[in-house]
Amino acid sequence: MKKVILSIIFTLVVLVIAILAYIWSGTFNVSQMVPHKSITQWVINKTTQYSIEKRIKGITVPALTDTAMIAVGLDHYNEMCVICHGGPGIEPSEMTKGLYPEPPVFYKSEMPTPEGAFWIIKNGMKMTSMPAFGPTHSDDKIWAITAFMLKKMNSISPADYQELLKKSSLHDDAQVLTIAPPDINKK
Ligand code: HEC
Repeated sequence: MKKVILSIIFTLVVLVIAILAYIWSGTFNVSQMVPHKSITQWVINKTTQYSIEKRIKGITVPALTDTAMIAVGLDHYNEMCVICHGGPGIEPSEMTKGLYPEPPVFYKSEMPTPEGAFWIIKNGMKMTSMPAFGPTHSDDKIWAITAFMLKKMNSISPADYQELLKKSSLHDDAQVLTIAPPDINKK
């Protein structure tokens, strides 16, 4: 019995040393341009899937059909998401070609579930460039973004999108901001 325990401890010590040696040797390439090995990608995918599945249990999805809510969602989507995910008639920014993983393009594509989308928008995703909007946006705003993405975006044309944008309130704020930027030096 003692022998077995000793050999388990020995194996664990060797394993820890091997891992530390791997880290210190600098063998791992952190470059965004080098894709993960398939085993690493599998671990990431499965960890992400189960992590989100566990955390979306119990989320109650509100009605996502209110027009005013969808209009608020469109504004926020346009302001913060098109840069990475694109939108009707809008390509994601060039920057996304250098992101790993590359953000999915949502327009006319398969959308996640409402619970999944809400959770991801609120919490972001570690080690991807998907930011958490929970620190800056209320749950109502995040549901509004979810509503626009899931219930409206795929059914409108690029021209409709621009038309809706013109009518939206945040867009007016953005216009005001470009005319008179806030004085950041003012105390
Ligand atoms: C800086 C880039 C960036 C910005 C800005 C960004 N995202 Fe993402 N997003 C990503 C990346 C990258 C992924 C993919 C992560 C992955 O593959 O694991 C992602 C994934 C997602 C997903 C999950 C997709 C799926 O099929 O599971 C949703 C939903 C999402 N983003 C919504 C949004 C919304 C809404 C906004 C704006 C409020 C936004 N994102 C802003 C980079 C971004």
